[in-house]
Amino acid sequence: MNDTTTINAKEEALLARFEEKVQNGDAIEPRDWMPEKYRKHLIRQISQHAHSEVIGMQPEGNWVTRAPSLRAKQILLAKIQDEGGHGLYLYSACETLGISREEMIEQLQSGKAKYSNIFNYQTLNWADIGAVGWLVDGAAIVNQVSLQRTSYAPYSRAMVRICKEESFHQRQGYEIMAEMAKGTPEQSEMAQDALNRWWWPSLMMFGPHDGDSPRSADAFRWKIKRQTNDELRQKFIDKTVQQAEVIGLTIPDPDLKWNEEKQCYDYGKINWEEFNQVINGNGPCNKQRIDHHKRVHTEGAWVREAAEAYRLKTQNN
Ligand code: 3HC
Repeated sequence: MNDTTTINAKEEALLARFEEKVQNGDAIEPRDWMPEKYRKHLIRQISQHAHSEVIGMQPEGNWVTRAPSLRAKQILLAKIQDEGGHGLYLYSACETLGISREEMIEQLQSGKAKYSNIFNYQTLNWADIGAVGWLVDGAAIVNQVSLQRTSYAPYSRAMVRICKEESFHQRQGYEIMAEMAKGTPEQSEMAQDALNRWWWPSLMMFGPHDGDSPRSADAFRWKIKRQTNDELRQKFIDKTVQQAEVIGLTIPDPDLKWNEEKQCYDYGKINWEEFNQVINGNGPCNKQRIDHHKRVHTEGAWVREAAEAYRLKTQNN
């Protein structure tokens, strides 16, 4: 047997062992052998997840100085700080796959990497901060609870930690919406307007419909995803429609209707043209988000340099 045949046979044995581990529901650790396609798929998904957490700090950060009370400001500050931490967990989990933080940041800033569509919309008033917490974090919880069972162990561990904080994020947003919905007519109108603007982009967060999702086949084969984009979207809709009813807000979908047979809500058509425009850089705030990230990344270089100098100094002592 020549060298190439031996290597192929070895590779096939490793692949078979990997597939068996994944099918058995075993977690894949960084030191385990994995197919290059699995590694690349995870790098794309986890880095884009991390980018989303960090970019997501911007729309909320705009409202820290305009929060309507000290309590509201404290809650918003805590939430934004959490999101930064979620980004760090996820960047660290992604680095275990052999990509550097610098490479990931370069991919984000150059537009090679995506981040969640939802963060390219403007937060126009305080009701938007409520809608972001209630809907965006609500959607993220549905997606991330499922990802706790992802096959890549560092990603799963990051999800377990992140999910512990997401419910606070969703509750504080829902509280803002509940307060405003039962407030003055102007406040109630603002809450309904925010729901109208954030509802459909929140549904888009779960990705294309199952039949149009080019990544899902591999994601399922390798148990990176445990539920489909549409299954998770449906779970979010069914839960959130009831929450809207409780606070007297109306979901902006004339086709929304309870389907007794399927025991879930039927809903209207999602505007995938808008989705594709937004995820390909043509949303309301894409340029602003990346320009801001570039500016503060440069301004913050001194922090990274100081931390590196300290690490080297303590390492050599
Ligand atoms: N925003 C931007 N791009 C999206 C997207 C979205 N909502 N949904 C899908 N896409 C992109 C995918 O990245 C892929 O493009 P690429 O091949 O260039 O990367 C393409 O559209 C095809 O979509 P697929 O469904 O085939 O891709 P995936 O199987 O990766 O599914 C996903 C997309 C559902 C977002 C999946 O990647 C996922 O579950 N990611 C982890 C969760 C995540 O990233 N959440 C982002 C929000 S984090 C957040 O909300 C923070 C919270 O604290 C507020």
